[in-house]
Amino acid sequence: MKLFLDTANVDDIKEIAAWGILSGVTTNPSLIAREGRDFREVIGEICDIVDGPISAEVISTEREGMLREAREKAEWHENVVIKIPMGKEGLAAVSILEKEGLRCNVTLVFSAAQGYTAALAGASFVSPFVGRLDDIGIPGMEVVADLAEIYDLHGFGTRIIAASIRHTQHVEQAALAGAHIATVPTAVVRKLVEHPLTDIGLEKFLSDWNK
Ligand code: G3P
Repeated sequence: MKLFLDTANVDDIKEIAAWGILSGVTTNPSLIAREGRDFREVIGEICDIVDGPISAEVISTEREGMLREAREKAEWHENVVIKIPMGKEGLAAVSILEKEGLRCNVTLVFSAAQGYTAALAGASFVSPFVGRLDDIGIPGMEVVADLAEIYDLHGFGTRIIAASIRHTQHVEQAALAGAHIATVPTAVVRKLVEHPLTDIGLEKFLSDWNK
């Protein structure tokens, strides 16, 4: 399972990319708005840091607007992946864009049925939102596991990005459930590499050495 960073913060991306564990980045309108910067400029900087799929989301809700925005964003950099919201208009846009050779990431996916239709439309990526399902008492990781099985059984090439990740167990569970990618907020990525016993062990090694 590859690791993507779910942020539009360029400093965080630089730091985590330097650890050699990062394969891509996902953004959404909320994350871009949080940075208070020009959308295109931020995506350009991210593409300069990470050589992998970089998701940039459209804000149009109807097909023509999505197509217009997607074609424009695809010009920004060859690694830009167009993030399109799940729905009838979104699927129609995805099926056209993928035929044009533009890679799409269908976002706001909350069921295996939705993820199945995204694959039928030819989406390169699909993003089931694990944490937001957990929040309403539905086990989000089951959608990831079901999609992994469906895509495998029926030979779909769509890559599953486990999204809306809230803690390190989500990352471990996504890998076990068969997600191809987990997109993870910076704070959770930091926690992935930490363990109190590592700190205690290192302290002991160094104090023994100094004695
Ligand atoms: O970018 C999509 C997704 O990862 C958002 O997560 O934490 O806002 O539910 P969250």
